[in-house]
Amino acid sequence: MAKNEIENLPGVGPAIAEKLRNAGFDTILSIAVASPMELADVADIGESTAAKIIQAARNVADVGKFETGNVLLEKRIKIGKLTSGSKSLDELLGGGFETQGITELFGEYGSGKTQIAHQLCVTVQLPKDKGGLEGHAIYIDTENTFRPERIVEMAEAFDIDPDETLKNIHVARAYNSSHQMLLVEKAMELSKEIPARLLVVDSLTAHFRAEYLGRGALANRQQKINRHMHDLLRWANLYNGVVCVTNQVSAKPDVLFGDPTRPIGGHIVGHTATFRIYLRKSKGDKRIARLIDSPHLPEGEAVFSVKREGIRD
Ligand SMILES: Nc1ncnc2c1ncn2[C@@H]1O[C@H](COP(=O)(O)OP(=O)(O)OP(=O)(O)O)[C@@H](O)[C@H]1O
Ligand SMILES: [Mg+2]
Repeated sequence: MAKNEIENLPGVGPAIAEKLRNAGFDTILSIAVASPMELADVADIGESTAAKIIQAARNVADVGKFETGNVLLEKRIKIGKLTSGSKSLDELLGGGFETQGITELFGEYGSGKTQIAHQLCVTVQLPKDKGGLEGHAIYIDTENTFRPERIVEMAEAFDIDPDETLKNIHVARAYNSSHQMLLVEKAMELSKEIPARLLVVDSLTAHFRAEYLGRGALANRQQKINRHMHDLLRWANLYNGVVCVTNQVSAKPDVLFGDPTRPIGGHIVGHTATFRIYLRKSKGDKRIARLIDSPHLPEGEAVFSVKREGIRD
């Protein structure tokens, strides 16, 4: 792509082009499929200007193309499966964490969300016949809970070099929700240079929950989370990778506001995530995973445990 490609669109000068690019709209196609609202938002322009730019992009870009069933099947055949380390958990997911999709892990504190996320950073590096994807991991850490020591333990359990394993995990700390969203764009860029096949956001919702308080902020928060999820899905499709996000839900009623049984991010996370796994604690190191409203898999439960070696049956 020519560097100045998006500048060729009427209405896009260098300043607007730079803002668009910084927000990840670096191709005509990405602009053609954007909504006027999100474009206006990232480029600081009016919605009608944004709509004109989008229309111009649509005239040039190859959008609205129908794909035949066999092409779609070919894409589905490329879907990879990443092992969690536990056979029963993999089986619940129809063979493992799927590429080209987002898997949401939700559950109360200590239910194993971060442990599974760490485990995937290791298994993604394994050869395909061991359930891996032979790729690197990108980890967006919002709660400062990424622990390299834990990766070392898990790598040793698979008999792979801990140092090499750590070198293939790219971690960034997100300081607030906008920074978190920006880091997905950075992950897009980084993935042009490294063979990343896993993108973790742990936690997806913590910053949003802390920043958008009260009923009045709810719509705005949902809209932002929605956009974030779409960015993540774009990465998953572009790089045929696994996206794994975590979402803490309280097992105890939240007396401040809202329905306690509803995970934060509620419907919006639910509808964009390809798989949603509800995790709960059981006796000792045992955990129970339940698959919630999957489009093509039966609902069910799997029991696994969190051990020193990692996630196991
Ligand atoms: N080295 C280890 N060996 C065995 N078990 C461990 C080890 N490290 C952590 N665990 C287990 O994992 C649990 C923590 O799980 P995890 O951090 O994944 O929870 P979480 O769902 O991410 O919680 P939160 O919502 O607070 O982030 C611990 O309570 C412990 O049972
Ligand atoms: Mg955690």
